[in-house]
Amino acid sequence: MKTPIRDFIKKYGRDNFVRAHMPGHKGKELIGCESDDITEISGADSLYEASGIIAESEQNASALFGCNTFYSAEGSSLCMRAMLYLCLLRSNCEKPRIFAGRNAHRSFLTAVALLGCDVEWLYDEKSPSYVSCDISAEQLENALKNATQKPVAVFVTSPDYLGNTLDIKALADVCHRYGVLLAVDNAHGAYLKFLPESRHPIDLGADICCDSAHKTLPVLTGGAYLHIADSVKDEFSDKVKFAMSLFGSTSPSYLVLSSLDAANAYLADGYRESLASFIKSVCELKTKLITAGYSLIGDEPLKITVDTAAYGYSGYDFAKCLNEQGVMHEYADRSCVVLMLTEQLKTDGLLRIEKAFSSVEKRAPITEKAPRFSLPKKVLSLSEVIKKPSKTIKVEESIGKVAAFGVASCPPAVDIVIGGEKINKSVADALKYYGFDNISVIEQ
Ligand SMILES: Cc1ncc(COP(=O)(O)O)c(C=O)c1O
Repeated sequence: MKTPIRDFIKKYGRDNFVRAHMPGHKGKELIGCESDDITEISGADSLYEASGIIAESEQNASALFGCNTFYSAEGSSLCMRAMLYLCLLRSNCEKPRIFAGRNAHRSFLTAVALLGCDVEWLYDEKSPSYVSCDISAEQLENALKNATQKPVAVFVTSPDYLGNTLDIKALADVCHRYGVLLAVDNAHGAYLKFLPESRHPIDLGADICCDSAHKTLPVLTGGAYLHIADSVKDEFSDKVKFAMSLFGSTSPSYLVLSSLDAANAYLADGYRESLASFIKSVCELKTKLITAGYSLIGDEPLKITVDTAAYGYSGYDFAKCLNEQGVMHEYADRSCVVLMLTEQLKTDGLLRIEKAFSSVEKRAPITEKAPRFSLPKKVLSLSEVIKKPSKTIKVEESIGKVAAFGVASCPPAVDIVIGGEKINKSVADALKYYGFDNISVIEQ
């Protein structure tokens, strides 16, 4: 597959122009990648009005993903805002409603705050972690059946940070029966398209979704895709660029764009085979870990999420053991640790991970469970919250106060209590359990 952005940039470097244009480094090395870091010079196209090399590269990506694919140089965060904007275009009511899984990423919350819609949370009280939210088709159907106001769209996160996936096909069927869009935050699942049988949300019936290419494909941080299903192509495709430009920088990184472009060739040339073979090795490793007494969480092929509490460790302590063995984890909390793998780690990486796990001795399980919490009462909308001054106080003193925007840490950037909600005792207990001593609340 051709790589028009990459080729243009390389040729421009060879042609040795005097760079009388931005950026200010003029291609001279300070960290090493400056020569490839160009701007919208003649012939380089322009991301939000693409008609040249960027459009051609996006068409290549569209062919690979089998839908209508657009680049983001600012992650899925930008795509999420654009997705919500597009979905809201469907509504003609003043305060449109969205249904969303309660484990929505912070970028969804910023989108809601900026665009000003109502959110009804789909919540799974039984979920062992606030980072996950198992939404069944039945639960969604009940919510839609009983809705006082029909939502424009349902936003769900799949896979989640811990590697759990939802039954997107079943959720899409329900949504479509009710004439509602299904939008999927597939930030962690770009590679799902390339499994022997695709598990990509668009192939399973989602109308719109975003993938952080940089999370699971060999793409620089910031590279992401916004995908539009063929069923809503006519409605959305010609509005995507405007939607992205509403929230994105006018100087998207060409390093990131050229990385997305180069990934097309990588994906087209033997990636499916190398992914399948790597996943087989990961499955073998998972089996060995289970045999050694580890409990694993989730069904996402490229994540290893360990229930460290069952093995006798907090996720933080277990992560330290891995770090001492030269393995850096993606995420840890009180009860688990998450490793994100790709075929770039090769057999050697998997062997080192196996060795690190085998160096940790099993202990008596930690039986303390994460406290369940009841959904707090909403008293202010997110749009109102971001305009209010806030202050930081101790979690113990926060009961009865209204949470400010964004109390969670990143990762996973999922909030236990969402801005504008009144903090109750169960939420305060959950915050303490997850290690939050302080919280921002609205100044009264
Ligand atoms: C579930 C989820 N959605 C969205 C995002 C935002 O993705 P990005 O970092 O590509 O902006 C993240 C980032 O970690 C995430 O974990």
